[in-house]
Amino acid sequence: MDRRDFVRTVAAAGGTVAVAGLVAACTEEAWHGHAMTGPDLAPAGGGAVTRYPLRIPQPVDPGGLSLQAAPGTVGIIPGKSTPAWMYHGQFPAPTIVAQNGVRYTGVRFENSLAQESIIHWHGLLVESVNDGHPQQAVGPGSSYSYTLNVAQRATLNWYHPHPHMKTGEQVYRGLAGAFIVRDSVDTGFDGNPLGLPAGSYEIPLIIRDASFASRGNFQFSNKSSGFWGNTPLVNGTFAPYLGVNKGVYRFRMLNGCNARVLRLALNNGGAFALIGNDGGLLDQVRPVTEIIAAPGERFDILLDFSALNSGATVMLRDLDARWDILEFRGTGGASGTGSLPTPGGFLSTIVPLSAPVTTRRFTFDGMTRINGKVYDINAVEFTVPFEATERWTFVTNGNGPHPVHVHGAHFQVVSRTGGRGRLYDWERGWKDTVLVNDGESVDVLIRFTAHEGLYIMHCHQLAHEDAGMMANFEVVRMATEAET
Ligand code: C2O
Ligand code: CU
Ligand code: CU
Repeated sequence: MDRRDFVRTVAAAGGTVAVAGLVAACTEEAWHGHAMTGPDLAPAGGGAVTRYPLRIPQPVDPGGLSLQAAPGTVGIIPGKSTPAWMYHGQFPAPTIVAQNGVRYTGVRFENSLAQESIIHWHGLLVESVNDGHPQQAVGPGSSYSYTLNVAQRATLNWYHPHPHMKTGEQVYRGLAGAFIVRDSVDTGFDGNPLGLPAGSYEIPLIIRDASFASRGNFQFSNKSSGFWGNTPLVNGTFAPYLGVNKGVYRFRMLNGCNARVLRLALNNGGAFALIGNDGGLLDQVRPVTEIIAAPGERFDILLDFSALNSGATVMLRDLDARWDILEFRGTGGASGTGSLPTPGGFLSTIVPLSAPVTTRRFTFDGMTRINGKVYDINAVEFTVPFEATERWTFVTNGNGPHPVHVHGAHFQVVSRTGGRGRLYDWERGWKDTVLVNDGESVDVLIRFTAHEGLYIMHCHQLAHEDAGMMANFEVVRMATEAET
């Protein structure tokens, strides 16, 4: 596929006017067998769907940032107001933008909720005391100070609460935001060597589901089988559209659902130019027509709208729920400055991990246990030598999907056997979350090179996590002969 093919695949939708079911709540109930009640959000008369401009969360610098978590109300469903829990009074929270190599001090979490909480920076490789371990949760009226020493590849991360047994509800009610790290390879302060789309051509898309009662309140249940909402939101926007100029856009996508795995595709079958994932840029650009996105996973894609005429549309869909998620609507406006790298074109150097010295096996059992044990917040289940390469095997014992997430290091996925029996392009490079479906066994190579200390691994189906599918481990520096 060459550059022109990318252009064509997107442009092929020109003229398509998407009027398909906006909220496929009924098909969704059938698909999951979850009895979800929700409002009838389809407009009367079955006419064209009314769409609303996509919200773009405000970008903020982390230095001296004070993030207060507090209850408030937000307008999501037109004409209604929704009680939510928010950082900074925003839904979703502001997009934190940091630079590799900078040590940000005075980052504060203030808890104005009626329950304990703590912020975890999913994907950031920070010291244990700054990681938001559940042991660090603070009560109502208290605060926690962080120093974020950003020393890692450029990537899209995610910040959200991590108190023991309460993460699912707090994330669901609105406490979550994007956290972008930049570096000199990827649109850093000192340049943009790859010519990636930037400014208003680089857009975070936090995709999540929710259910609403007729008054507009969130519906939620905490049962460990997980919560599936009946309505997709992007950046907290109901039925969103984004006006796109004739140019190349970069979308930083994140599955922020509590439990739902999304199968993302364009309505015209066009390809995404996949350039990155959890751990930043891939080695090269790859076209993919579908992305299976588990909670916590990130996807960095480019789309070229240079042939999309004014008023023409392309729809981002979830093929499993049969949802229209986000409409791209041509403005006919002039092009941006970003360009589309040639498929196969070089993006970044990924040095493969090899020669693991230890193999560990983790079974994800039922909805509450890892290796047969429910999470004990005070126990250290295993220790990992600093800088040793290890092979970790994740196995499911039912009740999947289990999106497995590790704090403190990124890993490389090396194999998946059983189930889908293959790896996907978005699982190349560096990851911190990998999807394990029932019947599957997934091997990753992992090496902790950032910090020693206490970290956790867990299932990112948040109801599983809250019910105990989580384990503490400690990264320890082994004494060398010179030190003893
Ligand atoms: Cu996104 Cu341990 O979390
Ligand atoms: Cu994390
Ligand atoms: Cu799970």
